[in-house]
Amino acid sequence: MVVKILGVGSSMREGSRGTLAVKIALDFARRHGAETRLLDLRQTELPMYSPDESDDPQARKVEDDINWADAFVLATPDYHGSMSGSMKNFLDHFWSEFAGKTFGYLCTSHEKGLTVMDQMRTAVRQCYGWSLPYGVAINPEEDFNSKGEITNATLSLRIEMLARDLTVYGQIIHEQFLRDLSSNEAATFVAHYRK
Ligand SMILES: Cc1cc2nc3c(=O)[nH]c(=O)nc-3n(C[C@H](O)[C@H](O)[C@H](O)COP(=O)(O)O)c2cc1C
Repeated sequence: MVVKILGVGSSMREGSRGTLAVKIALDFARRHGAETRLLDLRQTELPMYSPDESDDPQARKVEDDINWADAFVLATPDYHGSMSGSMKNFLDHFWSEFAGKTFGYLCTSHEKGLTVMDQMRTAVRQCYGWSLPYGVAINPEEDFNSKGEITNATLSLRIEMLARDLTVYGQIIHEQFLRDLSSNEAATFVAHYRK
C-alpha cells in the first residue's frame, strides 16, 4: 500500500509561509514514497460549516480528498495562540472521515505554536484520529529567504522528519484500522466504524 497524504494550508495570506511549508513537507513525503495532494483553503471556497447544510458542492469536493487520504499534514498560522478560523472550519466539516488516520502539525508562529498545535490535536483526537507526538513550529520571518526557500537547516530536517514519520506511521496505523474494520473483534474502537 502506498500511503496517501493530504496537506492542508489554512492561511488566507498571499505568500503564506505555512502553506509553503506544507508544500515542502509534501515534497519530502513523496521522496519517502507517499502519494500527496494539497488542499489550500485560501483557494477553496469551503463554506462556514452549518449542520443544516449537508450538500454543498465545494464541501463534497473537499470530502473526496479527505476520503482519499490516509494521513494529513495540517498547517495553520498562530492567531492569538489558536488555529486560524479557516482551519477550525475545515475541521468542523468532518469527523468520522478522520478516524484511524494520522495527523502531523505545522504552525507558523513567532513563538512555539504549542497551544495552537495542541488545539488541532484535541480536535483530531475527538474524531478518533491519531497524532504524531510532536509538531513543527516555523518562524515566518526568520526561517525563509525572499525566494521562499528555507534557510534554517534544523527546521528543514524537522519538516523532513515529520514527512517521513507521517509516511511510515500513517501507513501502519491506517492498515491496522482497515484490518480491524473487516474483522469481527469487538474490543477495538474500530468496531464503532463498521457498517
Ligand atoms: C489575528 C492575528 C493574530 C495573531 N496572533 C499571533 C500570536 O498570538 N502569536 C504569534 O506568534 N503570532 C501571531 N500572529 C502572527 C501570525 O502568526 C503570522 O502572521 C503567521 O505566522 C503568518 O503565517 P503565514 O505566512 O502562514 O500566513 C497573529 C496574526 C494575526 C493576523
